[in-house]
Amino acid sequence: MLTPDLESLIARLPKAELHLHIEGSLEPEMLFALAARNGVTIPFASAAEVRAAYEFSNLQDFLDIYYQGMSVLITEQDFYDLTWAYLERASADTVRHVEIFFDPQGHTTRGVAFATALNGIERALKDGEARLGISYRLILCFLRHLSEEEAFATLELAKPHLHRIHGVGLDSSELGHPPAKFQRVFAKARELGLHVTAHAGEEGPPAYVTEALDLLKVERIDHGNRALEDAALTRRIAEAGLTLTVCPQSNLRLCVIPDMASSPVKRMLDLGLKVTVNSDDPAYFGGYMNDNFRSITKALGLSAAELVQLAENSFTGSFLPGEDIARHVAAVRAAAQ
Ligand code: HPA
Ligand code: ZN
Repeated sequence: MLTPDLESLIARLPKAELHLHIEGSLEPEMLFALAARNGVTIPFASAAEVRAAYEFSNLQDFLDIYYQGMSVLITEQDFYDLTWAYLERASADTVRHVEIFFDPQGHTTRGVAFATALNGIERALKDGEARLGISYRLILCFLRHLSEEEAFATLELAKPHLHRIHGVGLDSSELGHPPAKFQRVFAKARELGLHVTAHAGEEGPPAYVTEALDLLKVERIDHGNRALEDAALTRRIAEAGLTLTVCPQSNLRLCVIPDMASSPVKRMLDLGLKVTVNSDDPAYFGGYMNDNFRSITKALGLSAAELVQLAENSFTGSFLPGEDIARHVAAVRAAAQ
C-alpha cells in the first residue's frame, strides 16, 4: 500500500539515478518542438498520437521507436534542451546525483558529430550541477547490435574527450549480441581509465550476466533481472556487493515482467542484493524516478526501511568518491527521520 507516510518519504528521500538513457527522456512535446525547429518530418500528427504508439511487446519494438525519435536531435542546443528538461524532472523527484547514458552511435550514424551531442549534454549537466545541485557522471554506451569495429571507432572518437566521459556501457538489442562480442573494446576502455557497466539479463539469459562479469569485468549490472534464474550467479552478485540498476516501469512496458507485482526489486532486497530503482527511458515508459518508486511500493508492499535501503544503494552503487557517498547516505538517513 502507498500510505501518505510512504508517499511523503518517497518525495523527500535523496536519490541517485544510475540507469537513464538521456535520449529516452525525449518527451513527445519536445519531439514535436525539435522536429519543427529542425525541419525534420516525423510520422505523427500530435503528441497524443505519439504516446498512443508507445505500445511495446519487447525491447526491439521500443528500440525501433527510440532510434526514430532521436532523428530530431540535430544541434548542440537540442541536446542541451533534452538534458536540461530531464534534470528539472529529476530535481523535482529529489534526485541529487545522476549517471546518465548517451548513445553517440545513434547520432554519428545520422551525421551528427560526437562533439555536438557531448557538448550539449555536458553543458546542461554543468548547469544542473550549478543551479540544481545535481552532480553527474556521463557514460558512453556502445550499441550492441552494431559491430565491434564500430564500437572501437566510437571509442576513438571519444579519445579527445576522455576527461569529460566517466565510463562506458552497453545497450540496445540484447538477444544475439552477447557481452563477449565487446570483450576487447571493454578491455581498451578499462585501460583508458573508464568505469564499465553493461545491460545484461534484461531479455538475455543469465549466461550474459556471467559474461558481463567475467569478460567485460563490469562494476555494476544494468537490469540484471534474469540473474535470479541462476542461484549460484545470484550468490556471486550478492557476495561481490555488485549493484543492479533495475527499472520497474521499463520492465513492465517492455514485457520483461507480466505485472508490477512481479518486479524483482523486493526479491533482490530479500536476497541481500544491492538493487537500485531507475527510470531507464522515462518519456517512453510513463514515469520518472518517483513514479517508479511509487509503483513498486504499491505493488510490492515495500516498507519505509526498504525505501531507505534503495535510496542508500543508489549512492553506494554510484561512481562517486567515498566521501561524497558518505555525505549522501547521511542525508538519506536524515531525510528518513
Ligand atoms: N535496454 C537496452 N537498450 C536500451 C534500453 C534498454 O532498456 N534503453 C535504451 N536503450
Ligand atoms: Zn537501459
